[in-house]
Amino acid sequence: MRAAVLPADAAFRAAVADLWASGAVRSMAAFPQHGDVDCLRHCLAVAYLSWCCCRRLGLNARAAARGGLLHDLFLYDWHTWRPGPGERLHGFSHPAAALANARRVTDLTAVETDIILRHMWPLTRKRPDSPEGRVVTAVDKYVSLLETLGRPVPLRETAWLRRLLAVPGLRP
Ligand SMILES: [Fe+2]
Ligand SMILES: [Fe+2]
Repeated sequence: MRAAVLPADAAFRAAVADLWASGAVRSMAAFPQHGDVDCLRHCLAVAYLSWCCCRRLGLNARAAARGGLLHDLFLYDWHTWRPGPGERLHGFSHPAAALANARRVTDLTAVETDIILRHMWPLTRKRPDSPEGRVVTAVDKYVSLLETLGRPVPLRETAWLRRLLAVPGLRP
């Protein structure tokens, strides 16, 4: 598994510092997510890329970072987990499980709640209400695809992020 190492970005680190110190959040490292990427690194990649996108777009980057880091805090190996009687498949049920666990870690804002609960749209029916929720939902799919292809997003480098964010039409 690739270890999850916080990006050097000091503002990002400050935004998620209390979450990163949480044992529950760090325990995501024990659960594989996509390919050789564990759940903690996946969530960190989603959090950081969402943070960058929301800063660029003038949105609530702090909520995107925190919601992104908590969005898959379901705390089990979904590859071997099976739903019990009356439970829904992982793809549908894990946002609510992550939200319940996240509420034990921190107080959540409405935007952070929206991010966690709606990030599986359009698999789940309700789309995110907030623009930050829509950013995280899109970033989650992008990050997941790259991880599944064995090309996880690099968190140490920022040059590729600068290139990515230099999209015409986006506010500097
Ligand atoms: Fe998820
Ligand atoms: Fe995810």
